[in-house]
Amino acid sequence: MLFVGDLSDGDLRLTKSITQLKHPVAVILGNHDRGKDASGETFQRQLNLLGDLHCGWRMREWTNPAVGVVGCRPGSAGGGFHLSRAVQAVVGPITVEQSAARIVDACASVPPSWPLVLLAHAGPTGLGSEASDPCGRDWKQPPCDWGDRDLALALDQLAPRRRPSLVVFGHMHHRLKGRQGERSTYQRDRHGTVFLNAACVPRRGMDAEGRQLCHWSWVEFDQANLVHASHRWYLPDGQLAYAETLLDLASAGASH
Ligand SMILES: [Fe+2]
Repeated sequence: MLFVGDLSDGDLRLTKSITQLKHPVAVILGNHDRGKDASGETFQRQLNLLGDLHCGWRMREWTNPAVGVVGCRPGSAGGGFHLSRAVQAVVGPITVEQSAARIVDACASVPPSWPLVLLAHAGPTGLGSEASDPCGRDWKQPPCDWGDRDLALALDQLAPRRRPSLVVFGHMHHRLKGRQGERSTYQRDRHGTVFLNAACVPRRGMDAEGRQLCHWSWVEFDQANLVHASHRWYLPDGQLAYAETLLDLASAGASH
């Protein structure tokens, strides 16, 4: 289970419940996780609670399933490269290049046969400048690319060595402001790296029959290759109610 951040507006109860999950978990905190506290104390409390579950700028290793999850810059608000006062109070001043280098270094410890997953709060620049692109600014005109430059730089530097199977992020809500419709949440580049925006907000809702739904983005791997990606909405008893399939190489292979 990967958590892409903005868990709450600084309320620690949800963070606590994440630490009690029995599943393999990795978390990256988002800009809202500092609460209204610019001193950084609330942000630091979240980090203390999460301990090893938080993987900002480091690899979190799961052995079952074998996956290397590398967290990107904690507390990002997208928009290129900006450190809020709270985040800077916790991580200190850091440059775009230093942040990218930390991401790249952390990726080096992931065994080649494992899927490499980059877990970020905001996605990278380069996925498009329209409001409906995976990291497109939709709340203000003109629309622009609101991705993170350090993550894009890290991906460039990783390209000759190790391409991630998946870059998953949140921050940019699926539903666009006003009447602009829905965001495109998925891209796959020509090398097979999947970019997935998991920010279905709110994650809980109700369908036309009054059933409660909870959203999850879902991926499946075959060795290091990502072969399935979908958005899924589950009922409270765990039954799958709806799925929007984004990629399904597994069943495409089986049908031939
Ligand atoms: Fe956010």
